[in-house]
Amino acid sequence: MTNHVSRRRWLKSAAALGAGLPLSIAIAEELMAAPVSRAEKHHGIDRPGKLVRLGSNENPYGPSARAREAIREAMTEYNRYSFAEAQEFKKILASKEGVSPDCILLGHGSNELLALAGMSLGLEGGAVLSAFPTFRTLMDYAVKFNARWDKVDLDETLTHDLERMAAAVKADTRIIFVVNPNNPTGTVVEPSKLKAFCEEMSRKAIVYSDEAYLEFLEPAQQQSMVELVRSNHSVIVSRTFSKIHGLAGLRIGYIVARPDIIQRIARYQAGPIINQAALAAARASLDDVEFMEYTRRKNAEARGYFCKYLESKKWFYGKSHANVVLFPAPKDGKTILEETEKRGFQIRIWDYKDREWCRVSIGTLEEMKAFARAFDEVVNQ
Ligand SMILES: Cc1ncc(COP(=O)(O)O)c(C=O)c1O
Repeated sequence: MTNHVSRRRWLKSAAALGAGLPLSIAIAEELMAAPVSRAEKHHGIDRPGKLVRLGSNENPYGPSARAREAIREAMTEYNRYSFAEAQEFKKILASKEGVSPDCILLGHGSNELLALAGMSLGLEGGAVLSAFPTFRTLMDYAVKFNARWDKVDLDETLTHDLERMAAAVKADTRIIFVVNPNNPTGTVVEPSKLKAFCEEMSRKAIVYSDEAYLEFLEPAQQQSMVELVRSNHSVIVSRTFSKIHGLAGLRIGYIVARPDIIQRIARYQAGPIINQAALAAARASLDDVEFMEYTRRKNAEARGYFCKYLESKKWFYGKSHANVVLFPAPKDGKTILEETEKRGFQIRIWDYKDREWCRVSIGTLEEMKAFARAFDEVVNQ
């Protein structure tokens, strides 16, 4: 069966999903749960609740107290559609980002928006260019619809290789996708280099800057590419409330771009009205500097512990600035998945450059200590 979906087939399947679940979300969930290695294909990547979840880059400290309170308070509105609240929140986000509200599109998590961008531009053909490995929803979508995925390997430090990416742009490249800090590595590109890259590339194609983990950097280092949106470049900036704000289960994120780009993406969105609880929680979280600082500090402490553990083993790893670390699997991936799971932990295995890699999300310090002990057992078995 072909991997490509024609416009007609897309419309047909959208209609068939009469139950109300937007097609974009249905496929996004399928892709988010897709294996990224042969080991995962054999083992499966269920995320049972009983395991310590070091497999999805979640925030173990959320939701914040302010978000919980806001969710409770908003309950009286749960019988109402959120037309007014969503508009109000868009205005708040627009003012935070220094753009007009028509430059903002809300989504059910940023994954939905990545999917919509991949779909809307993928349907037009051409290619999407990205580093590899990286967070792949947008490219998977583009490929499912009509486009080609051009991949450029990370450099030897597991960081985006911007020069090689620039050289890989072709006449039919429609989107250039960058994630900073990257997933699955947590590595960062120097902000001034990234800005120069995005500025130049946005003259050739649309640049999609996924900033899901930006707030894990210290505030002084958090340089968003949104300034390029403000100066009218063909740049999309994507943000989520799933990571630093700890609201992954509520599903809310947004993109910022010029209104003409927003409209191209929004035309395929089936249900743009976000649920009341997510809106209330996101609104309360937006300026919760204390909670963001808390998450940053606790994450850095637990990440520091785990990186020292990797160093004590003399294992190479990517220098992470986020809540995830990637390192070469010291043993075969399938055994690692089975044996870590038996010991109560869920992690991911990635295939990259003809070998297997462990991707471990950063949990609490206690979880990382327990995981390091369990991982020792698995490796020394
Ligand atoms: C780089 C990146 N972007 C986007 C997402 C999607 O997050 P969400 O849909 O929860 O906003 C993830 C999730 O792990 C991610 O790693």
